[in-house]
Amino acid sequence: MWDGTLFFMKYGNNMCTYCVFLCGFVLLAFSIEITYTLSMNNEKNTKRKYSFFKDGAYNIRRTISLDPAAHSAMEVLLLYPHIKAIGLYRIAHWFWLRNHTFIARWFSNWARHWTGIEIHPGATIGKGLVIDHGMGVVIGETTIIGDDCQLYHGVTLGGTGAVHVKRHPTLEDGVYVGAGAKCLGNITLGRNSKVGANSVVLKDVPVNATAVGMPARIIIK
Ligand SMILES: CC(C)(COP(=O)(O)OP(=O)(O)OC[C@H]1O[C@@H](n2cnc3c(N)ncnc32)[C@H](O)[C@@H]1OP(=O)(O)O)[C@@H](O)C(=O)NCCC(=O)NCCS
Repeated sequence: MWDGTLFFMKYGNNMCTYCVFLCGFVLLAFSIEITYTLSMNNEKNTKRKYSFFKDGAYNIRRTISLDPAAHSAMEVLLLYPHIKAIGLYRIAHWFWLRNHTFIARWFSNWARHWTGIEIHPGATIGKGLVIDHGMGVVIGETTIIGDDCQLYHGVTLGGTGAVHVKRHPTLEDGVYVGAGAKCLGNITLGRNSKVGANSVVLKDVPVNATAVGMPARIIIK
């Protein structure tokens, strides 16, 4: 008679176990991709096509092109914190949109412990967001981030006020925020604008402009 315990004691450590884990992982990956892609693309008002893994691959390519310290796609995938944080955010956001707020916050909390990047599951984030170094980044609930933005460690996209309305910044496409900068309130950082390291931005930044200092002033338009 087949004895499951004996079987696992004998073969538990061999390739078979790894194959089972690999198949499980591939199945999980497929289910995430299919569920995420189908349901996000069915959301109302979506302008772009979503794909969990295509977005991840795009982000890895963008990270390599932006960071001279990155040597390979594998290195970025396994060792760069924003790839994990954004992947977990995408899952958390999926739950958030379906009103499973507790599990959404749980994923977000897990990502924070793992990477030091805290992204609220309610935030809206486009593709290609690179968060270099990662540690100490906070992205609040009503933040909107366009495509191809870049943040450094210590950046806060924070809220002002305790009323449950849009109270966090909107970053249009291609915005760059230097290390330690704080952008606070319902302000808009225009397309391709830059924020200097350690600046505190409290007002809108025009398209293509650069803001530095505390409080930030516009230096280049
Ligand atoms: C804001 C930034 C993008 C501007 O770069 P730039 O367009 O090349 O501008 P410059 O360096 O020529 O500086 C222009 C002016 O802004 C000032 N300035 C630049 N960065 C500043 C900052 N973070 N805080 C205050 N003033 C700043 C400069 O002193 C200079 O002032 P001046 O004209 O009176 O001499 C850049 O300075 C910056 O802060 N980048 C962030 C980099 C970062 O966070 N790296 C982390 C790596 S781990």
